[in-house]
Order: sequence, then structure tokens, then C-alpha cells
Amino acid sequence: MSRSQWGSRAGFILASAGSAIGLGAVWKFPYITATQGGGSFLFIYLICCLVLGLTLMATEMALGRAAHSSPIGAFRKLGNPGWALTGVVGVLVAFLILSFYSVVGGWTVAYLVKSITGGIATSIDPKHNSEAFVQFITDPWSPIVYHFIFGLLTFGIVIFGVEKGIERISKYLMSLLLVLMLLLILRNLTLPGAWEGVEFFLTPDFSKVTKETWLEAMGLSFFSLSLGIGIMITYGSYVDAKSNLISSSAWVIGLTLLTCILAGFMVLPAVFAFGFEPSAGPGLTFITMPAVFASMPFSGFFATLFFVLLLVAALTSSISLLEVMVSFFIDELKLSRYVAGIISFALFFIVGCTASLSLGVWDNPAHHIFGLNIFDFLDKLTQNILMPLGEVSLTLFCAWVAWKSHLAEQLFSSAKLANLFRLMLGVVVPVIIVAVFVVNVIL
Ligand code: PHE
Repeated sequence: MSRSQWGSRAGFILASAGSAIGLGAVWKFPYITATQGGGSFLFIYLICCLVLGLTLMATEMALGRAAHSSPIGAFRKLGNPGWALTGVVGVLVAFLILSFYSVVGGWTVAYLVKSITGGIATSIDPKHNSEAFVQFITDPWSPIVYHFIFGLLTFGIVIFGVEKGIERISKYLMSLLLVLMLLLILRNLTLPGAWEGVEFFLTPDFSKVTKETWLEAMGLSFFSLSLGIGIMITYGSYVDAKSNLISSSAWVIGLTLLTCILAGFMVLPAVFAFGFEPSAGPGLTFITMPAVFASMPFSGFFATLFFVLLLVAALTSSISLLEVMVSFFIDELKLSRYVAGIISFALFFIVGCTASLSLGVWDNPAHHIFGLNIFDFLDKLTQNILMPLGEVSLTLFCAWVAWKSHLAEQLFSSAKLANLFRLMLGVVVPVIIVAVFVVNVIL
């Protein structure tokens, strides 16, 4: 059976970038950079994206194109059923990520609603904004209602098969998001005290680097680039034989990094200018941006536009996560698309509710797992443990099991380069991942 293909290489790159660019870049990147010491974290994150990210993304795409199949099928076809377990773990990780991703997607919907009703850009006072955010996320009901709405939107898009339509408009909306971010950056840089934030973001202070910085940077590079759960394998399976996968990956990574860096410039200078706490954690973007809007004319308009565009970016990522779950139920359990969608929605909605409650009424030791609330536990487990392990398994599989199955020629026409890449893939990358992992998680 012939597999359908992307209409163009640009379509393929934009769909991959749509999955990659989302809350990871705009919500996660600024707050992790802020808690991990600023410039030095940025530096290590860039290295992780360029060295590990590029190798892994190109390999995932190559595996998909060589096997012409979804992740589990690819591992089965070019390996054996044992390796298919890597694909199954990928589905589990997609499910766990979607559970808390949808909660944060819900925050975006809530802030959008507040922007429209005028309840958001009211204060530049850090205390007021943090209290408003904490009051919202610790409420037992309202974040869950918004989590449901975000989940329903994701479900609706996947079930009614309108992803293609969303992808078509999303490229315009994503470009608009980048332009809006640029505008907000220009606004922020004129605030007194903003340059302190720019310095913090760009000046590496290596005395702040700990072993945890490496783990966070590596994990975030996988999360923000949508690696480690097989999404790029699926996307690669629809690519025509001529497209260069290394340069396609470089494009996706470049666009994602651009968004991360713009998000850093958008949030961090404002954090310093308004006197917010850089180590505020997951609320940083949501606490800081209302102050930015409050300090400018047409605040309601800009706030609404920002959260609409952020919502679209979040949805183009969440649909790629839900698609992983739905395809699994369809292919492996032979369920209809509709039933597969309902089961997936129910699963991630329920686990997401526990994550949301864990930031409020359940934020106590009785509900902690390894000392973390459920939200943080899901986040760390997926980003810092399961995604790196999934990638180690992928690298070993591709370099040592499937290499001869036409994998090399997906990437390079020169045998010399291919061998060099194989060394990188089969030795250098897994050794780096395992070393960072062991030093942090086991020692
Ligand atoms: N990369 C997405 C983001 O940054 C999240 C994601 C992770 C999507 C893993 C798919 C797979 O928002």
C-alpha cells in the first residue's frame, strides 16, 4: 500500500515545527532558564539542541522514511517485536505529557477568556499578579473546567480530521505569533531595568551550572523539539524520497530555537523590569505577561491576540500528542477512530485532573510522589527520564540493528559521512545521554 505524502517539503517542515513549537518554547523555556541561572542554561540548551537534537530528529525521520510506517511498526519491521516496546513506551509518554500539557493549555484558555473580559492586564504589581495566578491554579474547579475545554478542542480537531486545515492556517498564525513577540520585546526593552534581564539571559555564568542544569537542558531540548516519542518517525514516514532530512531537521530546530529565544527576550527582561521573582517556576510566563500588557496601550487587544496565538501553537502540539495515542488504539487494538479518541481523551483528562489538583488542594506530602506533586512528577518523569531513555533505545536500534536496512542512505549519499554519523548516533549521543542521566538520576 502506498503511503500518502506531504504536499511539499515546506508542508512537512511546517507540520513538524507545528508539533515542536508550543508551550515548551513559550511557557517552559523561560521559566526553566530563569530557575537554572540564565545565560549558562541557554548555552547548554543550545548545545543539546544542535548536537543531540539534530542527530536525533534526522534519525527519527530517517527511520520513518526507511520503514514507511508508524513508530511501533517501524521498530517491528526493521527489528523485531521486542524493539516495538520502545514504540509502546513512546505512546505512554505521549499520554503522560498530554495529561499535564492539557492543564497548561487550559491555563492559556482561561487567560484568553480573562483577556477578552478585561480581567487580566490590570496590574504591573508582581504581588498582585502572582496572587491572581496562584488563586486560579489552586482552585479545585476552574482549572479543571479549562483543562476539559482544551482537551475537547484537541479531541475535536483530531477526531473530525481537520488537522490539515489547522496546519494550513497555523503557519500564518505562528508567523503572527513571532511578529507579536518581537513587538512585545521592543516594548519591554524600553522599560527601565529591562537590560538587567537581557544580561541575565545572555551572559553565561558557569558557576551556576550544576549536574541538574545539564539534565534540564537535555530534557527540555527533547521536549521542545517533540523528540523521544516517535512523532518525527511518523512524520518522516510521509516524506518523499528526495527531501534532505538533515536540512529539514535543521529548519525545524532553527524555527523552534527562534521561538524559544524570542520567548526568553519577551519574558525575562520584563521579569527584571517589574521586579518579579525569576525563580517563580511554572507560572512565570502567566504572571509576567499580564504586567507587560498592563503597561502598554490597547492592553486588552494585545493580551487577547497573544493568548489566541499561544493557544493555536499549543493546539498544534497537543494534536500531535493525541494522534500518537489515537493511532496506537486504532492500529494495535483495531478500535474505530472515534472510540480511540474517546478513550484517549478520558485517560488524559483524568490524569490531568490529578495533576491540576496537585497544584492546589492536593499539594501536600500525602499526595506527593518521590517528593514531587503529581504535576511536577509527570513533567520530570517524561522530560528527564522517559524521553532520554526512549532516545537511547532509538539510537542503539538505528545504529546497530536497523542501520543496514537502508537507514544510512536516507541521510547521506557519501559513505564516509554516513559512517561518521553512525559513530555519532551509536556511540557519542547515547553515551552523553546515559552519562547525564546516571549522574543525576542514579548517583
Ligand atoms: N514540543 C511541544 C511543545 O514544546 C510539546 C511536545 C512534546 C509535543 C513531545 C509532542 C511531543 O510544546
